[in-house]
Amino acid sequence: PKLTVLDRSGTERVIEVEDGLTVMEAIRDNGFDELLALCGGCCSCATCHVHVDPAFTDKLPPMSEDEDDLLESSDHRVETSRLSCQIEFTFDLDGLKVQIAPED
Ligand code: FES
Repeated sequence: PKLTVLDRSGTERVIEVEDGLTVMEAIRDNGFDELLALCGGCCSCATCHVHVDPAFTDKLPPMSEDEDDLLESSDHRVETSRLSCQIEFTFDLDGLKVQIAPED
């Protein structure tokens, strides 16, 4: 599946991702160094925060309480905020578009 990533300056890049990675792994492995993902995907750091295109809201996996709590501590939470390590990137999400959230 294809993933469109916007970096913090708004530059857009489309990447082809292996099915079954998380969105965080896909972004990190494609050289976007703005996405720190410090905890490596354990849902404990919130440095993998992205803003997801609202068109995909319904297709995303539900948010856990932990994810919700972590996002709550961000100054840049918006309605479509998610932690990208908590989204498995499958063909259902082909064409997904995310922007790396500003640094907290
Ligand atoms: Fe740490 Fe996602 S990588 S919460």
